[in-house]
Amino acid sequence: MLLDTFDPYRPAVIDWPELAQDVRARLAGLPFWDVAVETEENAGRRMQALADATADRLIRRALALNAFEERRHKEVLGHMMRFYGIRLNGEIRGQPLRDALWAFLRTGYGECFDSFFAFGLFEMARRTGFFPPELVGVFEPVIQEEARHNLFFVNWVAYTRATQGWPRGWGFAARCLAALAVQTAKRLSIAQSVDGDNFTRKGGAALGIEIDARGFLALCLAENERRLAPYDPRLLRPRLMPAVARLAMGLLPRAAALR
Ligand SMILES: [Fe+2]
Ligand SMILES: [Fe+2]
Repeated sequence: MLLDTFDPYRPAVIDWPELAQDVRARLAGLPFWDVAVETEENAGRRMQALADATADRLIRRALALNAFEERRHKEVLGHMMRFYGIRLNGEIRGQPLRDALWAFLRTGYGECFDSFFAFGLFEMARRTGFFPPELVGVFEPVIQEEARHNLFFVNWVAYTRATQGWPRGWGFAARCLAALAVQTAKRLSIAQSVDGDNFTRKGGAALGIEIDARGFLALCLAENERRLAPYDPRLLRPRLMPAVARLAMGLLPRAAALR
């Protein structure tokens, strides 16, 4: 699936749209460019490391393509930042890599978390015109690639586990759970410092849109489904984030009634 649906776009020839001064300033003012570049850098290195350590030739090719696409994301960001004069605040440092499998698992679950919300945010930015349509068009393949990566990752996990037998399969499952726990804890500690409903409402107001946490989760869910729909229905779908989102949506009105 990953190899068959490869999109051969080239960052160097992207035709960046001229932006009005205020739109450019808004783009430059987004607080996450450093994190984004660093995340793509690390994801690329980790996926390449697992590709290099994988014996199965077909899976190695898929992992290497995944790594290539992460490096390409970083390139897209680099070109965009140069074109619009956006500067990094610090130096990007790659994290040292000791255990390729562990690093890959953490990256994979991290992407499942982050892209689920990125799908909703991107759609919000599109609907509100926060990103002008030309810019949405440029980033569309990048966002769609993350949906493919999530799909590849959950199927890779299931396949790897199924081919390892007992007890290695259980050892592998335990590492998956640990990686998932680490990524959950990281994001919970961030979420703790943010009042979710207030955050989405304020964020929505900044985008000129009225949305509460519940509406935002519904948007993430719908976008997640839409982006995964084109692929072979026999493939497993990421289940965790949609389940968490549905659970949260079920709890949110009750939380409001308690206040
Ligand atoms: Fe990426
Ligand atoms: Fe990715």
